[in-house]
Amino acid sequence: MALSLQHLALGIPDLKAGADFYTTFGMNMREGDDRLAFRCDNRDHDEIVLLETGKPRKFHHISFANDAAGLAGIERRLKARNIETLKPPYKEAEDGLWFHDVDGNLVNVHEAAPNVTAPEPEPAINRPGAFTRINERGCPPFDMDPRPRRLGHMILFTPDVPRQSKFYTEVLGMRLTDRIVDGFAAFLATDGDSDHHVLALLNSVAPGFHHASFEMASIDETEVAAKRLYGKGFKHAWGPGRHGVGSNYFHYFRDPWNGMAEYFFDIDYIPADCEWPVTEWTKPAGMFLWSADGPPPEDFGRNYEAD
Ligand SMILES: [Fe+2]
Repeated sequence: MALSLQHLALGIPDLKAGADFYTTFGMNMREGDDRLAFRCDNRDHDEIVLLETGKPRKFHHISFANDAAGLAGIERRLKARNIETLKPPYKEAEDGLWFHDVDGNLVNVHEAAPNVTAPEPEPAINRPGAFTRINERGCPPFDMDPRPRRLGHMILFTPDVPRQSKFYTEVLGMRLTDRIVDGFAAFLATDGDSDHHVLALLNSVAPGFHHASFEMASIDETEVAAKRLYGKGFKHAWGPGRHGVGSNYFHYFRDPWNGMAEYFFDIDYIPADCEWPVTEWTKPAGMFLWSADGPPPEDFGRNYEAD
């Protein structure tokens, strides 16, 4: 079995603000004794965990799953590097291995079945000379309630992209799929069939949380969900547009603490047995082919945890 991304956790000043943001984003909330947890419809594990740790907001941890053999391999590689394993950091934390990556971020890997997303029917889209939706209206219902399907990936800031990339490929067995020049960014898939990236690393003066990204099925879902966020006063960050690296359509929003959440769809998918030539992208091409609001805003790459 392969590694899979399960959840990420943020330490935040205000759980109520977190509840408003992620429920408006389209996730289901569960209250724990010492945390709030959010998951998409039909998911059997938490995907966002919020812990009230006060100001300022800080990235808390990332959690992966693997099988017993995968876990044993990671434990062996941690030992070989003299990396200490730690106690779970709070009462309701997952079991399994807890340790720090080379930047000091807390990482968990626990034993769990891989994530499975049920396949959805192919959309009927009319293309030039190829009409697959005949005598039927294409505009979705005006009362549609777009729901993200799953957490797909997250991005962490790091002062040393190659060093972090080496850690996650060598210790967790992840696979480098693409890079952006001059150590600006690296994109990592799991060691199994995987989205183009489940973890990406972005250069900054310090570690920190950049964004978490959730899968939608269409531009309609993404933009109707965007309207829902704007209606509650949440802020646009960048998009909609299409990334070069990973190919996904994107739209980013600011969470209440200047982190970001993204809706994505149509990301590149790489089965474990397929070759994927690692490409070194320029910054503009890697970032986007197009975006409705032009190039990324100045603060898109700002690490608010380093302020
Ligand atoms: Fe993303």
